[in-house]
Amino acid sequence: MDKAKRKAIIAGNWKMNKTPKEATALLNAITPLVADADCEVIACVPYVDLAAAIEATAGTNVKIGAENCHWAESGAFTGEISTGMLKEVGVEYVVLGHSERRQYFGETDETVNKRTKAALAAGLKPIVCVGELLWERECNITEEVIARQIKLDLWDVTEEELKNVVIAYEPVWAIGTGKTATADQAEEVCAFIRAQLAKLYNQDAADAVTIQYGGSMNDGNADELLSKVNVDGGLIGGASLVAEKFAAIVKAASN
Ligand code: PGA
Repeated sequence: MDKAKRKAIIAGNWKMNKTPKEATALLNAITPLVADADCEVIACVPYVDLAAAIEATAGTNVKIGAENCHWAESGAFTGEISTGMLKEVGVEYVVLGHSERRQYFGETDETVNKRTKAALAAGLKPIVCVGELLWERECNITEEVIARQIKLDLWDVTEEELKNVVIAYEPVWAIGTGKTATADQAEEVCAFIRAQLAKLYNQDAADAVTIQYGGSMNDGNADELLSKVNVDGGLIGGASLVAEKFAAIVKAASN
């Protein structure tokens, strides 16, 4: 299967930015700019923005995602949000295992796996993030790190469920640093991820998975990154907070 047959997906990851009112304003600016996009467009927003975001994007081609979810249906987990809560407000996607969750909030491959399984069981589409630290790249263990994350994060995910999984390759050293991986570096690891998926499942299943690149992707470098055969989209942080920049990346993915 070639790249053209995979779904290109551009997703904004707003992180801890924008109040509900600001979210409405930003989405009102984004939606007309991406109305004729030939790719999937998603905004992953803070929990309290979800209702406003879903309202602002009703009847448009922009889908809404959350930035995390818990694996339990309910219970004594102060500060957490369940998949059922997300489903009920109309969320379709959920970012899981983002490096900031791993780095600052003790997320491990085991909890990423639990969240991924729960999201899939609830009918949410997880965007599972993997990526190496700068130190790991310098020690030449990028492939080991990625192989381990893919294997553990997707443990017990069936081939049928894999159809609803998006993988985001986000080298940690490139996130929010302005340091983008070169298109060749991004392609190399995205191709490696696909090869791992082929090993764990089969080539057809692997060929159908959308693999995004994330890490300082912007309106200036998106064209080149997205031209690579295994880079099927982007998970965009900083540039997703500026309507024109985000729309330009969506346009690059639509070409
Ligand atoms: P960035 O963030 O585009 O600001 O580097 C990407 C991400 O963390 O998903």
